[in-house]
Amino acid sequence: MDSACLDSRGNTGESASAPVTVRLLTGADAPAAIPGLTDVLLDCVEGGASVSFMSPLDRTTAEGFWRSVVAGVEQGERILLVAEDGEGVLGTVQLVLAQPPNQPHRADLSKMLVHRRARRRGVGAALMQAAEEAGRTAGKTLLVLDTASPDAERLYTRAGWIKVGVIPNFALWPEGGFCDAAFFYKALV
Ligand SMILES: CC(C)(COP(=O)(O)OP(=O)(O)OC[C@H]1O[C@@H](n2cnc3c(N)ncnc32)[C@H](O)[C@@H]1OP(=O)(O)O)[C@@H](O)C(=O)NCCC(=O)NCCS
Repeated sequence: MDSACLDSRGNTGESASAPVTVRLLTGADAPAAIPGLTDVLLDCVEGGASVSFMSPLDRTTAEGFWRSVVAGVEQGERILLVAEDGEGVLGTVQLVLAQPPNQPHRADLSKMLVHRRARRRGVGAALMQAAEEAGRTAGKTLLVLDTASPDAERLYTRAGWIKVGVIPNFALWPEGGFCDAAFFYKALV
């Protein structure tokens, strides 16, 4: 799937007020999205999300992260999806396609991020749906993820993902202190 639209109530279809599009970025058009992706990452970390980075996260470090992601897209190792409206990037998610030789059928779903200004409008759900479709198109039959976010857990459960369990003290919150991580999988059939 290259793109999908949802309206301001989170339904697919065109909306005159707030159309949101989910787009799969190619290596050619991903660099232009880096400023918007950086804004989303900075906002999520500032908002307390445990997504690899500690607080305060500076713009240079965040941009460097996205440049490495774009390099992975260019090399065919990652799929990068963005949700956008007329004002720019609202959210993003990745599939890590590059896996060990004995796991060619698997991908990791990573960095599901929605800017706080765009939450609770169905953007996360639209990104999940697009990521799963992109995984199928890439020939993947198993997706795996982990999360420290109860909001994300509900999103994944609604999308039919299976929670395997929780690893205590898996990572740190951006401001410090351990957080647990819940692991999920979904078989793409
Ligand atoms: C987790 C996250 C991605 C969810 O994104 P989102 O765009 O808000 O997700 P959705 O809008 O699809 O769903 C969120 C909630 O809004 C509700 N919702 C969706 N569309 C709605 C609408 N039109 N009107 C009212 N509510 C709506 C959903 O039912 C859901 O409700 P719930 O939380 O009570 O279960 C977002 O909170 C986030 O980026 N968190 C910080 C980063 C993070 O921790 N990411 C997870 C890394 S693994």
